Amino acid sequence: MRPLETSEKLPEESLIYQLKSFFRLWPYLWPKDKPGFKVRTFLALILTIAGQFILVGAPFFLGRSVDAVENASGITSVFSSSGLFITALILGYGGLRFVSVLISEAREYLFTPVGQYAQRSVATATFAHLHKLSLRYHLEKRTGGLSRMIERGIRSIDFLFRFLLFNIGPTLLQLAIAGAAFWLAYSFEFALIAVATVLLYIWFTVVTTEWRLKFRRTMNAKDTDANAKAIDSLLNYETVKYFSAEGFETSRYDAAMEGYQQAAIKSRTSLATVNIGQSFLMNAGLIGMMLLAAQFILGGKMSIGAMTTITLVMMQVYRPLNILGFAYREIKQALTDMEKMFALLDVEPEVKDRTDAKDIVDAKGAIRFENVDFRYEAERPILKNVSFNINPGETVAVVGPTGAGKSTLSRILFRFYDIESGAVTVDGQNIQDITQDSLRKITGIVPQDTVLFNDTIGYNIAYANPKANQAEIEAVAKAAQIHDFIQGLPEGYKTKVGERGLKLSGGEKQRVAIARALLKDPAILILDEATSALDSVTEHSIQDALDMAAKDRTTLVIAHRLSTIVNADKIIVLRDGAVAEIGTHAELLSKNGLYTELWAQQELEAQ
Ligand SMILES: Nc1ncnc2c1ncn2[C@@H]1O[C@H](COP(=O)(O)OP(=O)(O)OP(=O)(O)O)[C@@H](O)[C@H]1O
Ligand SMILES: [Mg+2]
Repeated sequence: MRPLETSEKLPEESLIYQLKSFFRLWPYLWPKDKPGFKVRTFLALILTIAGQFILVGAPFFLGRSVDAVENASGITSVFSSSGLFITALILGYGGLRFVSVLISEAREYLFTPVGQYAQRSVATATFAHLHKLSLRYHLEKRTGGLSRMIERGIRSIDFLFRFLLFNIGPTLLQLAIAGAAFWLAYSFEFALIAVATVLLYIWFTVVTTEWRLKFRRTMNAKDTDANAKAIDSLLNYETVKYFSAEGFETSRYDAAMEGYQQAAIKSRTSLATVNIGQSFLMNAGLIGMMLLAAQFILGGKMSIGAMTTITLVMMQVYRPLNILGFAYREIKQALTDMEKMFALLDVEPEVKDRTDAKDIVDAKGAIRFENVDFRYEAERPILKNVSFNINPGETVAVVGPTGAGKSTLSRILFRFYDIESGAVTVDGQNIQDITQDSLRKITGIVPQDTVLFNDTIGYNIAYANPKANQAEIEAVAKAAQIHDFIQGLPEGYKTKVGERGLKLSGGEKQRVAIARALLKDPAILILDEATSALDSVTEHSIQDALDMAAKDRTTLVIAHRLSTIVNADKIIVLRDGAVAEIGTHAELLSKNGLYTELWAQQELEAQ
């Protein structure tokens, strides 16, 4: 028994593990096929570094100007030639600060396209991957959850760039430059205090934020939960009304929101600890440095200007640290989100093409099931030793009680699932040896439950072949007996069908599905209760179209109403996942078995 696919693993909490996913971004930032982007990323990094030097350098100009003003003798105006020196220093200070803004904007300008490209590439890759994953995965997943996972993953990329590369990283660099500058220009102690306070500050922030993270995690979990409930509930809008369950749904949602709210309150109130501690450390550091500076000045070892410089530099270093707690938390969250997204990318599709799989071309449509065993879930066998054979061009019907496994046959033929044992062949080739894509290209279906895209009727029909022209679309719509109905609509083929096609009646949806299957013109056509939602008059007229369609291709008809399949070349009677009888209508009737029973029952009802 093949193990069931495990869904995405929970992220491991270790930072190293998470940073690994950050490095998976690198190929997107440094794309092989885009040399221009490499230049951009490189320049952006250079500018970021240059910007830090300039930011630390600027206050030294102001400090100098303070000293110059203090020591000036005989200068009466900053505009006089002897005062020009002071003016230049002040201009230098303002100018450099301005340049640092220019630099940071230039960096944005350079880097934004790269960041956006990375986001788009990752999003597209993830989206494409989701479509590659097998049906089982999607049936087990909440669609809302998946799209949020992508959305959060993308947001995390932006966030990580912004904070790690352009905020936290540069701030640490700035601190290092400032420390070195203090040491060189003034004294070692200033560098020591500056670096020590910031490190202490960072340590404190990380520890307290870690402690707060658990509230945050609860918040996120509750938020996801509330959202999933809301989406599921709104998707089931009609069902909710049928059972007057609005109150029930609302209280379920409210309960989920209450959990969120409690976690949110804890999260907010615990923030006070972080803020207070941070402010204490920051100001303690500043006070220490100022006292030291005052001492140095009193001792004649330093100028007043130096005190100004130190204050300004430290203010600059501290400013981005204000949001360190937030940034740390968000970075961690972003790493987790990103990792989840990458984990999604790592999920292997359950049904995979062999590496040497070939396309099936010019299919004749011979189908063979040989001793097929299949189960969706380990505990419950669904198909048991099913064997049958369909020659090219034949029309074969599958009948049997509900839950017998009829639709399962079509899912297996489409290779949504791999079978447990036995073989399914098309034109003598095992379907596991041909590409899924080519297999699905030659197979068409009118499914038992038609779900439509939330777009126009025309779009939904043309989905089978986006290159089809209007005449072709109308031809199949006519064959499916829906053209007149569509023409009668105020917006004709441009009518929107609503989410999942819910603005159409069951029979209309079914006819759209028939039209689009006809447009696909496949070698193998599966009709799974294709006319079950239609009245007998419409069914009758469509039957002709379906008979026509069935003429030159292999057709598998799944039907409850036996009168529609009496002319089939072969009828397979399925019971409890096993083939009970096979034969033509006449042969089966003469057997006096399950088919005869079903037939008699329906004859009786028809009278
Ligand atoms: N994804 C799934 N996971 C688990 N069990 C499933 C899944 N899909 C179908 N089943 C089960 O497999 C059995 C066969 O289902 P199938 O849809 O093939 O029945 P059917 O013969 O088409 O019935 P109906 O006439 O009602 O359409 C059912 O008992 C159903 O509960
Ligand atoms: Mg079915």
